[in-house]
Amino acid sequence: MCIGGNADYFVEVETEQQLVSLLKFINENNIKFFVIGGGSNLLFGDEGFKGIVIKLSLSSNSEFARIGNKEEIDAWNDNETESLDNNTVRICCGAAVSLAYLAIKTAEHGLSGLEYLSAIPGTVGGAVFGNAGVKNCSMSDIVDKIEVIDYSGNKRVLTKNNINFEYRKSDLQGNIITKIFFILKNADKNDILKTISQERKRRINSQPIGTKNAGCVFKNPESDSAGRLIDSLNLKNYSVGGIKISDVHANFFVNEDNGCAQDMLKLIDFVKDEVYKKYSIKLETEIKIIK
Ligand code: EPU
Repeated sequence: MCIGGNADYFVEVETEQQLVSLLKFINENNIKFFVIGGGSNLLFGDEGFKGIVIKLSLSSNSEFARIGNKEEIDAWNDNETESLDNNTVRICCGAAVSLAYLAIKTAEHGLSGLEYLSAIPGTVGGAVFGNAGVKNCSMSDIVDKIEVIDYSGNKRVLTKNNINFEYRKSDLQGNIITKIFFILKNADKNDILKTISQERKRRINSQPIGTKNAGCVFKNPESDSAGRLIDSLNLKNYSVGGIKISDVHANFFVNEDNGCAQDMLKLIDFVKDEVYKKYSIKLETEIKIIK
């Protein structure tokens, strides 16, 4: 959204070893920290972040930027006891890779599973952490296992059965996802690429793509759409300071004119109150507000 103050420090790590050393330093010195993926659904306050913001690097040297290292996949297949049908393929991916890039790369290899998720901005690690998704499809549908480093610096492998995924959330707090293993299906490459292209077009037509926004501001309440509810109150174009409710989709708030985090927070509270007054529904934010 291009708002929010600076962090005291911003650190990119390229290896698990660097990450473990950094966590050791942080723990020994009792420093506040926050790990970001692509940062696409985060709201930092105007006062900034008094601590270290950590990001897994996407540089060419980074361990977290790799897709489908063959040796790793072979080793994993050898250890795997569960047999999968011939139509199924496993791939692994570093957590810093962009979800859109992974979707295109797997599509080019005739691997289906990510096409409906391809237009979600952000990294693969962030998308798994928040169980990002679209209607009827979320990251948890295709994840098989993940590697994490917990905040104490211990490396662990978690299979899907050990992770509690819910609508737009997981119980992975306290862990930094470093690598993700997916199970995808063989399919026709052109069909997959066509779905990706349709998904992009659908987004362009129904969401304010290209503006300064953080995706859907609120989670959908059960069996309804937050966007529809806000729109029904005629709040499209309503603004606080420089932040305006999009006239394309009412669950997107756009930074139109040098808005600040305070404007965004005021607008969030205002919309929550209005929706509650009319529908007795308590909207919950989908974007993460970092204090
Ligand atoms: N609608 C309105 N007015 C609006 C917006 C929507 O009347 O201003 C109506 C639409 O016409 C439609 C219904 O509400 O009948 C649902 O809208 P839409 O299809 O846009 O889906 P959504 O429920 O608003 C969800 C996800 C999006 C995802 C889309 C498409 C959430 C909170 N939102 O939106 O995800 O892109 O489905 O699959 O789950 C995000 O997570 O950041 C996000 C944008």
